[in-house]
Amino acid sequence: MSHVELYLKDARSFLSAQPESFQEKINQIHTMIHEKSGLGNEFLGWLDLPIHYDKEEYQRILKASQKIRKDSQVLVVIGIGGSYLGAKAGLEFLRKPFVKDSLEIIFAGHQMSSEYMANLLDYLQDKDFSINVISKSGTTTEPAIAFRMLKSVLEDKYGVEQSKKRIYATTDKARGALHSLSKTNGYEMFVIPDDVGGRFSVLTAVGLLPLACQGIDVDSMMNGAKDAYHRFSNPNLKDNEAYLYAATRALLYESGKKIEMMVGYEPNLLYLNEWWKQLFGESEGKDHKGLFVASAGFSTDLHSLGQYIQDGERHLFETVIQVVEPHRDVVLTKEENDLDELNYLSGKTLSYVNLQALKGTMMAHVDGGVPNILIQIPKMDSYTFGYLVYFFEIACAMSAYWIGVNPFNQPGVEAYKKNMFALLGKKGFEHYIK
Ligand code: PA5
Repeated sequence: MSHVELYLKDARSFLSAQPESFQEKINQIHTMIHEKSGLGNEFLGWLDLPIHYDKEEYQRILKASQKIRKDSQVLVVIGIGGSYLGAKAGLEFLRKPFVKDSLEIIFAGHQMSSEYMANLLDYLQDKDFSINVISKSGTTTEPAIAFRMLKSVLEDKYGVEQSKKRIYATTDKARGALHSLSKTNGYEMFVIPDDVGGRFSVLTAVGLLPLACQGIDVDSMMNGAKDAYHRFSNPNLKDNEAYLYAATRALLYESGKKIEMMVGYEPNLLYLNEWWKQLFGESEGKDHKGLFVASAGFSTDLHSLGQYIQDGERHLFETVIQVVEPHRDVVLTKEENDLDELNYLSGKTLSYVNLQALKGTMMAHVDGGVPNILIQIPKMDSYTFGYLVYFFEIACAMSAYWIGVNPFNQPGVEAYKKNMFALLGKKGFEHYIK
């Protein structure tokens, strides 16, 4: 049985052909993925990562996380894109709102705001901290700048030699500036395997170290991913919710729906959406093809985007994530005078009210011409996070191959960099701007 349930009733009615009639196409793409014969096949290492990961390194990650928890109040995780969003999504998915952890995890190098950096440098002055710098290429500008600045604060605080014991580098096993710098300085290093691209790297040290540092049960997360791996190794749409999701969104795209909006009713899901947007946006958006991926947090955004979704241009569909069992709940009480006129809800839980908002919104949006895919997850725990990561990764590979693009490159990301380097006067980039 699948840990993730998929309900398509409110999407099927918008389709002229149902996903099941494309089983043969699914089988072909599945074979292409598993035989590694499609575009970008050198980056399919994530496919069996839940089974074939480096167990020795995994133990080193756990050990490093214990040391960091012991000797640091703050862990600064430096990285951008796939070297940032997976860990951030996992931490947000699993955190208990308002509960302070003994280790604070702060991200840096995911933007270049001077305001953010100057305040972070101040904030760290009186804190014991460690750094986990993450970059597969080892040359990405944003994290490289952040690392240079933060390393300097660390060295001022602990001295050059001691600071080396507080820096953990996650990068390529042999190449790149970060690799050479880490080797020269003797930092503890973790590897992003050659065949695992950034946005598919959550289940490597990229995600594992920050998550383990937060005390998250990464064993359970890997078990979730492993069970998803087994579940989605069979291409039959009757047993493969990931491919069914991929096929449905592809057919909606072909029917003229150009935007997929991922929607959740829990604030803990906001960064899962951000990770999902990168995964699908960077994997599919090329050769002038691909769904535009957007996200919203409901019911908050029903009071901002709701009007457009209900009534604006009919070019989008929604994928709704429903968490079946919240970890905690609260009950509405009865009040004598009922001045706020809420007594009709007394005795009801807030999760019940939230669920009715979900149901009511789906009905309204479907009536308004917006197809809805519903993904139900039982709860927000580490097993489910691992399961969902794999669910979306394999669905993404299927979707991208369905529209005929290479899911694993990102040539378009280079364009802004060339102009930026030219504007900054980097050698070799002068000719990009006249
Ligand atoms: O998915 C990807 O490959 C990208 O989003 C990268 O993760 C991102 O550009 C950061 O690259 P790097 O890890 O090389 O610094």
